[in-house]
Amino acid sequence: MDLTYRPRRLRRTEPVRTLVRETSLAVGDFIYPMFVTNGEGRREPIDSMPGQFRHTVDELVTECKELWDLGIGAVNMFGYSEERNEKATMACDDDGLVQRAIRALKDALPELCVQTDLALDPYTTHGHDGLVIDGEIANDESVAMLCNMALSHARAGVDWVTPSDMMDGRVGAIRNALDDEGFEQVSIMAYSAKYASCFYGPFRGALKSAPVKQSGIPKDKKTYQMDPANVREAMREIALDIEEGADVVMVKPALPYLDVIAKAKEAFDVPIAAYNVSGEYGMVLAAADKGWADKDRAMVETLLGIKRAGADMILTYFAKDMAKLLTA
Ligand code: PBG
Repeated sequence: MDLTYRPRRLRRTEPVRTLVRETSLAVGDFIYPMFVTNGEGRREPIDSMPGQFRHTVDELVTECKELWDLGIGAVNMFGYSEERNEKATMACDDDGLVQRAIRALKDALPELCVQTDLALDPYTTHGHDGLVIDGEIANDESVAMLCNMALSHARAGVDWVTPSDMMDGRVGAIRNALDDEGFEQVSIMAYSAKYASCFYGPFRGALKSAPVKQSGIPKDKKTYQMDPANVREAMREIALDIEEGADVVMVKPALPYLDVIAKAKEAFDVPIAAYNVSGEYGMVLAAADKGWADKDRAMVETLLGIKRAGADMILTYFAKDMAKLLTA
């Protein structure tokens, strides 16, 4: 038997393993998804997401200063609004919660990349990302709302808008709306391949945004979010979003879709983001809680896998923990 090549030679010591390591994580890879709520001086713990909070605007600023000092350069914000109606009017209010949060953050930390979610679910009574008209999610009417929402965030000073709604044609419409108003510097990170996943459960708990069970309201998001079985369709969605002007495209969730991330990386030359979603965060914490996995090692291995698959950036609730680990 010919044993002249012995792969174990390159695994003998940590310095050697470090020399041949192909993938590494850096604090600059992460985007921290954060929740903002009305009021002052409060951080409400989120029951379904241990370690995560709904921050009032002042507390959000304090927290982001700490994150900035740890090296985190980007946050993605979701509003937790109690003012909801069928038309989601609060989504486009220039004095709304997220708009105020953007202004406060840009004021305190001008270089922080402030990103906001674009979708109607925190603002509708029914929990859908678009408007419900005659029992259906109305595509074009929803896109018009998303354009107004994007403009309202742009006026507040947002750096990136991140449409997570999966309506058809929204990236192009938002790009045009922004450019027409002189916001050509605002970037679009499109949730391009967003799957109808069970792993959003804890997030919907955080925003109390699960679709309501009521006649005349679609019971789930399967008419707009993608079927978990499809990968060729994901490539088509991504290609469309790039054509429409997306600066960054996203695959979401991350772990069950590593093949989609890898294929997207091969096929396209724009930056690829992956969202390590609330349910994936929860699985690691639950396993650690049970004593079935070491939390830090499970966190690192998870994020390394997502990066190795091809993600250029990762939205993760572990961002702060990772930053502490990497700078320790
Ligand atoms: C909705 C939205 C969701 C998430 C981000 N934006 C949930 C959904 O589509 O129902 C999920 C994020 C997570 O689970 O961490 N626009």
